[in-house]
Amino acid sequence: MGAEHGFVVITAVLVGLGHRSVGYASYVDAHPDELRIVAVAEPDPVRRERYAKRFGVEEGCCFDSAETLAAAGKLADVAINGTMDEIHIETTIPLLNAGYDVLLEKPIAPSQDELRMLEEVVETTGQKVVICHVLRYAPFYVAIKERVARGDIGDILHIHSTENVSYHHMAVAFIRGKWNRRDVNPMLLAKCCHDLDLLCWMKSGIRPRKVASFGGRHFFTTENAPVDASKVCIDCELERGCEYSALRHHVDNEWWPFYALAGESAYESGGVVGVEEKIGHVSTSEYGRCVWHCDNDVVDRQSVIVEFEDGCVATHDMVTNSAKGVRRIQITGTKGEIYGDMIEGTFVVSKPGATKGTEALVEEINVNLKDDHHGGGDLRLVADFLSVVRGEGGSISTTSLSDSINSHLIAYAADVAMREERVVTID
Ligand SMILES: NC(=O)c1ccc[n+]([C@@H]2O[C@H](COP(=O)([O-])OP(=O)(O)OC[C@H]3O[C@@H](n4cnc5c(N)ncnc54)[C@H](O)[C@@H]3O)[C@@H](O)[C@H]2O)c1
Repeated sequence: MGAEHGFVVITAVLVGLGHRSVGYASYVDAHPDELRIVAVAEPDPVRRERYAKRFGVEEGCCFDSAETLAAAGKLADVAINGTMDEIHIETTIPLLNAGYDVLLEKPIAPSQDELRMLEEVVETTGQKVVICHVLRYAPFYVAIKERVARGDIGDILHIHSTENVSYHHMAVAFIRGKWNRRDVNPMLLAKCCHDLDLLCWMKSGIRPRKVASFGGRHFFTTENAPVDASKVCIDCELERGCEYSALRHHVDNEWWPFYALAGESAYESGGVVGVEEKIGHVSTSEYGRCVWHCDNDVVDRQSVIVEFEDGCVATHDMVTNSAKGVRRIQITGTKGEIYGDMIEGTFVVSKPGATKGTEALVEEINVNLKDDHHGGGDLRLVADFLSVVRGEGGSISTTSLSDSINSHLIAYAADVAMREERVVTID
């Protein structure tokens, strides 16, 4: 940590140079006086060179993995770990042992045993791990949390939340893409640990106790493939009329380039990718496969019911194949309720009113959330993390590892509850 131009600059090592960690590191663009990237760790040489240049990292501070970086000793105040889900624990433990506080992408770990391993290392090293539950920092949810915390709706009796995963997000990430296998990334954990974290955050320290869940994969299966569908979109005579066409998603509409174009040489080096190159890359990668003929085995719907220690019940529905990706939440308390739609950025606080002619007293709130990813949560998370590291204390959103694990304990329990058709008690 060094003082420059009167500000305290936090230095960071960036681990895993994918789109998430680079997104967080882009905080330096507007705040060079608060954050500086001084080392990078990434096995892919093209990404390593590109982002070392982008963030002004010297060659001697470029490493080919989290492990080799950690072996070099402590080079900065903090580490930002944006590696993929299945290596979060094996990459974070050496960083903690090397003395870094770590900003770690969600989900923390695919299993409870690995999560416990991380907790033990946090306890023995005394280092901090902050999980990127970015929705806590989105102004929409912060405004809701503030009203809950100041008692506007009394004690929470019930919460209902929904995440609608759009058909194109489902296709790129959970059918064709990196999160399509249950044993590696159970979908509720991968997609909705944010939502489960929001439920626990609204309940402020009251622990989740019992979990039930139903769900499954019944739609995105090979049996539902149209008769004439080919295995890959480029060869398919139905392609132009298909709402799941990889070519329509990733070439015509240019959706999700950081997934579908990953590995394409011009894209990786920051250049412009021509239409022919896009077609060629998408068609020959996993992202060009027919959605009905993939190796996906994650659920395509799942609902969870959670009972908290005080008897409050919360339900969360993960719905896929939605026309529009959107999150909604309804919180009912002893003195009123909140209903909101994150994409609209609006929520309403209603209170039972007994004045003649008034059924409910209503406050309508509009929260601007167009300024960055996850409703403005991504870069606010970075700002909050830096403030905690500077010792300035956090915000209403600040979370510790011991808070963040509750969302994961619900997700692990829900997976067991769904598969074994029983209610699971969280220890
Ligand atoms: N917070 C959110 O809302 C949110 C949203 C999407 C994804 N995610 C999570 O973010 C994480 C990263 O996702 P992504 O799409 O950016 O991944 P990515 O695949 O684009 O990036 C991961 C990078 O880590 C590198 N890597 C692999 N092994 C490594 C090692 N041993 N040491 C250092 N680097 C290594 C890979 O080469 C790759 O460049 C995932 O866990 C994902 O689930 C979070």
